[in-house]
Amino acid sequence: MITVTDRRVHKEVSPRRLRKLRVSMITVMPGAEFIESVEELRALAPVATAPIRHHVFVCTGKSCSARDSAEVKDAFERELKARGILFGKEAKGKNPKGTVIVTECASVGFCAIGAAVMVYPDGVWYAQVRASDVREIIEEHLLNGRRVERLALMNVPAEGLAQPSEKNADWEA
Ligand code: FES
Repeated sequence: MITVTDRRVHKEVSPRRLRKLRVSMITVMPGAEFIESVEELRALAPVATAPIRHHVFVCTGKSCSARDSAEVKDAFERELKARGILFGKEAKGKNPKGTVIVTECASVGFCAIGAAVMVYPDGVWYAQVRASDVREIIEEHLLNGRRVERLALMNVPAEGLAQPSEKNADWEA
């Protein structure tokens, strides 16, 4: 049984969800709002235990929206769902163990050349993406590791690999 003392969590997680997770609410302690336990964090955020391999951001800023970025996002969700690799709740037709997460984001500066789509951890920024391009991005990039050159405008290289954080680690400036 997990114990949660976070007032924010109390507001955001339904009692039914807490029961399902075997999480109990105990006395809400003002000031005790930071959850230390990784186990608790994982129980409250199932994405933390999903085997995520790609994060796809679709810009839904004003200019990209005018270029139908909502349709682009819908196409990603539809195609990824059909392949069973879209992370999310089963009740919504998604897979809690999916390997791809799709989220919206605000403007990234491709306003004149949207819709903008960014794929991480590869750091590939796609421009002028239309819903009709989505299947190719999924099949080429997400499934076969080959970026779609005709749409890829920028690459933001990662410096090294992400490491698990360690408390009291000495971080270089
Ligand atoms: S609105 Fe999408 S990049 Fe600016």
